[in-house]
Amino acid sequence: MKTLHERIQQIKQEFFQALSAATSIEALEQLRILFLGRKGKIAELMTELKTLSLEEKKELGPQLNILKQETEAAYTQQFEELEQKKIQQELLKKRSFDVTEYKPGTLTGTLHPLTQMTQHIEDIFISMGYEIAFGPEIETDFYNFEALNIAADHPARDMWDTFWLDVPGLLLRTHTSTVQIHTMLKEKPPFAIVAPGRCYRHEATDATHDYVFMQTEGLLIGKNISLSHLLATAQTFLRAIFDKKDITIRVRPGYFPFVEPGVEIDCSCPFCKHGCSVCKKTGWIEISGAGLVHPNVLKSCQIDPKVYSGFAFGFGLTRLVMLKYGINDIRLLHQPNVEFLNQF
Ligand code: FA5
Repeated sequence: MKTLHERIQQIKQEFFQALSAATSIEALEQLRILFLGRKGKIAELMTELKTLSLEEKKELGPQLNILKQETEAAYTQQFEELEQKKIQQELLKKRSFDVTEYKPGTLTGTLHPLTQMTQHIEDIFISMGYEIAFGPEIETDFYNFEALNIAADHPARDMWDTFWLDVPGLLLRTHTSTVQIHTMLKEKPPFAIVAPGRCYRHEATDATHDYVFMQTEGLLIGKNISLSHLLATAQTFLRAIFDKKDITIRVRPGYFPFVEPGVEIDCSCPFCKHGCSVCKKTGWIEISGAGLVHPNVLKSCQIDPKVYSGFAFGFGLTRLVMLKYGINDIRLLHQPNVEFLNQF
């Protein structure tokens, strides 16, 4: 049987071996319980010491004390080192990116396709002498309906499913035609404006309908303005936006209470000659509602319809983006999907 002296040496050796293998806080805790705990190996030796003679106690007591001190000190040092390491690792994990990793030129941003289209439309109309106009997205009944010749009981209100706000009379504009009214109340004719902006409709969404989307409004007021001015403008714009000189337009009757006559303008398909999936094999794509500004609208903006006339048009800017880039779901344009957006 081993003497107590031999066992002290053996436990010391076992402890330091186990300590070098304890590389985690959890493993170190196991080691503490096994050697330094109340019922651990060193406590066992202490209990044994009590049963020895005074002579033996004098010789072995100090050895045991040294063992206790050395093991406790080594344990504490290792514990602190592991704690530090753990804190460092957690800090590293929290650091979401390393700026020193950035390689200039590898990450490039692009403008959102809706922004690109907005700028393109603005450039084309500015080149035709138009100004860019804006209006608020929260509107009153007056600007969205009444001044546009759509009285409260007019059945045409059903054409625009409206988000009414809790404040009576306030709504989210359903079309950019509101900017016509803001402009006519502010400016003296002649003037020509184009107004790209967001609109809202209380509609179920699908691949081609969203509850928020962009339109562009155009308005030109002057003397002796006729439908031919409108049609020439529409054709010039469409040729420029699709960058195709052979684009032609087609006109159908259309109804909007704020224009008379009202028309729907279609564009010959920019993508095919004999019918494709975009134009649904018809060769034509619906683009815009338009017409000559109704005399009642001019009157509600204090413009004399006997002196002035004008045309207005409104088209879906978001739909134009879909058409131009072949996007088959309007909802993609709302999502912060970098892979999708990087294509433009
Ligand atoms: C209007 O909103 C009229 N203000 C246009 C107008 C202006 C006519 C000036 C005459 C004179 P409409 O409701 O048809 O018309 O909408 C115009 C375009 O907005 C549509 O052709 C379509 O391209 C787009 N649009 C309408 N609803 C949605 C929707 N829910 N999601 C995406 N685009 C839409």
